[in-house]
Amino acid sequence: LSTIRVDVSGVEAGSQLTVKWLGKPVFIRHRTEEEIARAAEQDEEFAAGVSVVDPLARNENIDGGAPATDANRTMPNPEGAEGAEGQWLVQMGVCTHLGCVPLGDQGDFGGWFCPCHGSHYDMAGRIRKGPAPENLHIPPTSWVDGSTILLG
Ligand code: FES
Repeated sequence: LSTIRVDVSGVEAGSQLTVKWLGKPVFIRHRTEEEIARAAEQDEEFAAGVSVVDPLARNENIDGGAPATDANRTMPNPEGAEGAEGQWLVQMGVCTHLGCVPLGDQGDFGGWFCPCHGSHYDMAGRIRKGPAPENLHIPPTSWVDGSTILLG
């Protein structure tokens, strides 16, 4: 199947669900308000050109040339959802260097760290340091209902 439905009702803020889609891991991260605030700070750094490796959003849901702002990388909230925008970040769990699976809540930017050759991704999954050339890719996503994500 090229599309899958994922029930995210049990994914608490501050945790991440990893699912397989097209044989590859996909990270579904539910960010806390604190994480969203940290992401906003990193967004400012990124806009100022600090440790920018890849300027593109790499988000299949939007224009291919869109900049890698936090808003362009996170999934919009489902209709009627409580809480801030930016709480859902869905991205491929595939390092853009040579394809290892990065570890969450690690690395110099508090996002993801790939232990294979030391790539550091920030809270929005943007590559900030290390050999990976691109931000973690964002797969096609949409909300089926308030707690179910369609991947693909
Ligand atoms: Fe991730 Fe090389 S595969 S840093």
